[in-house]
Amino acid sequence: MKIISIFGTRPEAIKMGPVIKELEKYDIVESVICLTGQHREMLQQVLEAFHITPDYNLDIMKEKQDLFSITIDILERLKSVLEKECPDIILVHGDTTTSFVAGLAGFYMKIPVGHVEAGLRTYNICSPYPEEFNRQAIDIFSDFYFAPTQEAKRNLIQEGKIEKNIYVTGNTVIDALKNTIDEKYIDENLEWSRNSKMILLTMHRRENLGMPMRNVFKACRRILKENREVKIIFPVHKNPAIRRMVLEEFGKTENIRLIEPLDVVAFHNYMNKAYFVMTDSGGVQEEAPSLEKPVLVLRDTTERPEGVKAGVLKVIGTQEDRVYMEAKRLLEDKGEYERMSKANNPYGDGNAAKRIVDVLLEWYGGNK
Ligand code: UD1
Ligand code: UDP
Repeated sequence: MKIISIFGTRPEAIKMGPVIKELEKYDIVESVICLTGQHREMLQQVLEAFHITPDYNLDIMKEKQDLFSITIDILERLKSVLEKECPDIILVHGDTTTSFVAGLAGFYMKIPVGHVEAGLRTYNICSPYPEEFNRQAIDIFSDFYFAPTQEAKRNLIQEGKIEKNIYVTGNTVIDALKNTIDEKYIDENLEWSRNSKMILLTMHRRENLGMPMRNVFKACRRILKENREVKIIFPVHKNPAIRRMVLEEFGKTENIRLIEPLDVVAFHNYMNKAYFVMTDSGGVQEEAPSLEKPVLVLRDTTERPEGVKAGVLKVIGTQEDRVYMEAKRLLEDKGEYERMSKANNPYGDGNAAKRIVDVLLEWYGGNK
């Protein structure tokens, strides 16, 4: 059985990593890895950490890429790869433009598509943008839905997807987490923040570029100014537009470290040592419950309601005063902090990749 896994950004690589490792265990499987190269350095970090060697890299990244160039370049360059490889199935992950276009290419060539992390929804097509469109669109042409939770499965069923094609597997990010956490992990940044309340901050979403990001950064400055025991570590996304703004807003601020994106092993261990997390990331919202870390979600919506129900996530938006008040509350109100950090992990038992591969093997066995 020939399976081609197509991905191109950091989170896809982190969450497809466990699936690729699982596929490698079976002689019957020929596993082909095709990177779109939507990301470069941030993708390379994951490949190195997980020892993944790609067969193809479409290498599409450019500095001012937009949704048009990403879409057009991937679709154009993927065609010859798929014509050459003739895979039995294409695996894509989540909600990026890479995943949408790779799935679309499969649909155009009548190759079955398996969607890992299917069924997440906000039902607000503009939030997150363009990810909500991407994930809904991928689920129109997918043949296999690997839903991380029952909630995701319910969304798919409500939309009329065929139930026998939906498999609840857990999220593969929990598989990845099983291999990265080391209680003894330490480095210079963690040494620097050792006796403080360390907040781990990330922000990168397209809809937060501009004023929303600026407002959040202003709130962070107020928090730092008023709380000498707080330190912030902020691994800054490679997007130059974000970097410019981060430097403008935090250039002279004390008690914050602006650092390069961390490799996934480091990032998971920073999370494990953080007091709490502030982020607009999707994946980080899924990792936090396992590590029992409260997360203030810097967005107006989330497609991860399980974490909100579990109590570990609070969706607070990007208004300066709200962000400031919520961070202050978590720092000062012990009861609130305890409640948010004692959540159960709703995202699975760390065996999602095996469940996904078992489904594919059974399907292939039945079709041979
Ligand atoms: C993309 C995904 C988003 C996902 C995020 C994960 C889309 C539309 N967006 O958004 O869903 O949450 O990845 O991080 O698919 N850059 C580098 N080096 C890198 C990576 C990025 O220099 O390794 C810079 C490039 O200048 C690039 C810019 O970052 O133009 C933005 O990258 P892009 O993939 O377009 O958007 P993300 O915000 O990363
Ligand atoms: N992450 C990382 N290094 C960092 C920041 C995040 O490895 O400096 C990991 C994090 O653990 C999570 C994933 O990247 O698994 C989330 O990716 P991102 O926030 O870029 O995208 P999203 O999940 O929002 O699509």
